[in-house]
Amino acid sequence: MKGLILSGGKGTRLRPLTHTSAKQLVPVANKPILFYVIENIVKAGITEIGIIISPETGDEVRRAVGGGERWGVKVEYILQERPSGLAHAVKTARPFLGDSPFVMYLGDNLIGGDITELINSFQKNRPDAVILLKPVDNPSSFGVAEIDKDGNIVRLVEKPKEPKSNLALVGVYLFSTEIHKAIDEIKPSLRGELEITDAIQRLVEKGKKVHSHLLEAWWLDTGKKDDLLAANTVVLDEVVKREIKGEVDANSDISGRVRIGKGAKVIHSTIRGPVVIGENCRIENSFVGPYSSIGDNSVIINSALEHCVLMEGCEVNMIDRLEDSLLGRGAKVIKNTKKHHAHRLSIGDDSVVEF
Ligand code: TTP
Repeated sequence: MKGLILSGGKGTRLRPLTHTSAKQLVPVANKPILFYVIENIVKAGITEIGIIISPETGDEVRRAVGGGERWGVKVEYILQERPSGLAHAVKTARPFLGDSPFVMYLGDNLIGGDITELINSFQKNRPDAVILLKPVDNPSSFGVAEIDKDGNIVRLVEKPKEPKSNLALVGVYLFSTEIHKAIDEIKPSLRGELEITDAIQRLVEKGKKVHSHLLEAWWLDTGKKDDLLAANTVVLDEVVKREIKGEVDANSDISGRVRIGKGAKVIHSTIRGPVVIGENCRIENSFVGPYSSIGDNSVIINSALEHCVLMEGCEVNMIDRLEDSLLGRGAKVIKNTKKHHAHRLSIGDDSVVEF
């Protein structure tokens, strides 16, 4: 069994961060989303992993992941020239996949629990596809499955206007080599992409064995800012244990599950977990409230923040209350203390500022 991770795409919904960086490398609890994906595949015993990359962000992904040594696996990179759809990505990866069955995992999807059991049952029952489903409130934004009372797939539709069920396709799929033939038999959709839902639908039409499995654990698609903040909240809740490597002075109060990286300094501040603070940060005269992740080398001075994700090297200075915010690398939010109280901005394309 091989692993195929899709880490190409455009990431338009997560702009401006994705103007300069791969969306799969955006951190959740200070760790890139893609690393959670790799760890989940590795945990299931898969040692050969192919990662689909795009010309724009491929180098950054390569630098972050390397050859897979960190996880004791072999990682190969597969360049997809254009983001022409999930099934197109599989087509591009065909030389890597060869005759092997594989798990395809979207590089921006986070799921609770692991996929070991799913893979074991796939290897035992040998279906041609297994799809993971999860009930959602807004099925029109996803690939949606109609299933009969025995759990067999009747129909799959990509982002239906009038969804027939609330069961969305989670971004983890298991396939036999039959999927390649099905992909050869489909045409691009109206949006010009080779859709994996169409290819799976083709398997169903051909009478192939397509099983579905309802995901019990949580699933988060980190496509947009609010999804990402939600993912950060869930993951912080699950993974953070109290671990203080940095320095905390006697005037500070750290409560709950808080992780503070080495070289970080907390001075005259209150930190209320779950919170992760990266290495070499400086938190001074500030309050850092629950569900915040502070990237390495960030500085927070005379400020209060909560439910925020700050990437590396950010600065927040003299800000009374920052909430529900996502700051890209090296971003600064600073109060203007000059007499002339103007707002002065230097922000990237597609940024949003709410005063
Ligand atoms: P999407 O979220 O569907 O697409 P996207 O990344 O282009 O994002 P947006 O809608 O915000 O523009 O993609 C799901 C995952 O699959 C994501 O990790 C990117 C990856 N992907 C590819 O690798 N190749 C592709 O052709 C497509 C469409 C997506």
